[in-house]
Amino acid sequence: MSNKTKLELSWIGKENRPRLEPRILLEDPEKSYHAQHRVTDHDLFDNRLIFGDNLLALKALEQEYAGKIKCIYIDPPYNTGSAFEHYDDGVEHSLWLSLMRDRLELLRGLLRDNGSIWISIDDHEMPYLRVLMDEVFGRQNFVAQCIWEKVYSPKSSAKFLSENHDYIVCYAKDVLRWERNLLSRTEKQDKAYKNRDNDPRGPWKPCDLSARNYYSIGRYPITCPSGREISGPPQGMYWRVSKERLKELDQDRRIWWGKDGNNVPAIKRFLSEVISGVVPETIWTYQEVGHNQAAKQHLKELLPNVEDLFVTPKPEGLVERILTIATNPTDWVLDSFAGTGTTGAAAHKMGRRWIMVELGEHCHTHIIPRLKKVVDGTDQGGISEAVNWKGGGGFRYYRLAPSLLERDKWGNWVISEKFNAAMLAEAVCKLEGFVYAPSDTIYWQHDHSTEQEFIYVTTAHLSHDQLQQLSDEVGSNRSLLMVCSAFRYG
Ligand SMILES: C[S@@+](CC[C@H](N)C(=O)[O-])C[C@H]1O[C@@H](n2cnc3c(N)ncnc32)[C@H](O)[C@@H]1O
Repeated sequence: MSNKTKLELSWIGKENRPRLEPRILLEDPEKSYHAQHRVTDHDLFDNRLIFGDNLLALKALEQEYAGKIKCIYIDPPYNTGSAFEHYDDGVEHSLWLSLMRDRLELLRGLLRDNGSIWISIDDHEMPYLRVLMDEVFGRQNFVAQCIWEKVYSPKSSAKFLSENHDYIVCYAKDVLRWERNLLSRTEKQDKAYKNRDNDPRGPWKPCDLSARNYYSIGRYPITCPSGREISGPPQGMYWRVSKERLKELDQDRRIWWGKDGNNVPAIKRFLSEVISGVVPETIWTYQEVGHNQAAKQHLKELLPNVEDLFVTPKPEGLVERILTIATNPTDWVLDSFAGTGTTGAAAHKMGRRWIMVELGEHCHTHIIPRLKKVVDGTDQGGISEAVNWKGGGGFRYYRLAPSLLERDKWGNWVISEKFNAAMLAEAVCKLEGFVYAPSDTIYWQHDHSTEQEFIYVTTAHLSHDQLQQLSDEVGSNRSLLMVCSAFRYG
């Protein structure tokens, strides 16, 4: 497709955009949880679990977290039409697109310039999601579409083909700034390196001397140490090095001719010289990252008293793979479709800071008990062994405040009765773009946005004298925005 061609999705209701109030978040300390003792010097306590609709929650996070999140992983309802017990997975297609578009736009704003977003999806909506992502993130920022082998055995009850994969679609906020990490080498990968000739440089593996890439001086005959003549590389291929370079490599004992000196030559690649990690590939097998059944089993062990366990939780290994590629310790990770809390659990064990949002009651029945066990170090399933997890840290639990305004019985907009003075001050600060942080010593300083600009929110009626006193205290080099019920001046 040329750069001028722009494929855009259209759907019923695309033009309707919700007008969102930036709500405040209310912590419920009873549900927050922190380890009793520090386990390491880098335990993380400031993680956030938010109970509520993610559209409002993402809007609520905007002020504090815009441009701060390094990696977003979401596993939204796939819109397959199947009736899941814990959430609605059969939203009508147009509604699903609107729902996703609105959230993706907010998510993009939360990402750091060098951040990335990873989305689990299956074949039902994947093509639409891709086009939608092109619209929201820009086609140029597409990174990869991974295939995850989610089950380990075919379903004989499948109507047509037995589906055994999901996709994980990845976009960078700005592909020119995004950098991926390498994956650790596995024992199996290292085992391919052997030392057949006792080379002092250590184990090596033979790599083809020929390749398909055209190389103008890459076709010449070779004589093996045994005396056998090889007329040239196979048809349509070229030696990867020139005749002279081959000689140099051979003198440095970097060419393998087989134990009898009679094989087609191969270049020795030494384990000590290869990069320390492995470039991530796009097919992720269940042997590498786990499958749905294992994730369910892990959950069963974690929550033995919960009867209705989730149908398709993701294995922690899958999230670990994403976070390994896309984050470093202490980076912020966000999942706004938290489900059973797999993202938070994996991020926590990996020393990443996390925010999760979940609307369903399983926020309380699944996520909180699960995360408590992670913090306590009693969850030894999932990736615990791989990352040597011993517990520590904690999280704060929040719910969304109600809307600031409501209609009274005459239909007039009034401040909601559910707001006390502190909530009101915080909500008004947020609406005005200030971060609520009331001073302990100065009653009129309700924020610490800058050293010069302050906000004071009060339900009082301010008199001329009070205003004059405030003006004197603020002085001429600073400014104070006052939000009050009424004032009398002059
Ligand atoms: C497929 S599940 C996520 C599973 C999760 N990855 C895990 O491993 O447990 C999708 C979740 O998104 C939640 N969800 C759907 N719509 C939401 C919304 N508007 N706000 C917050 N959560 C929502 C559902 O309740 C459900 O728990």
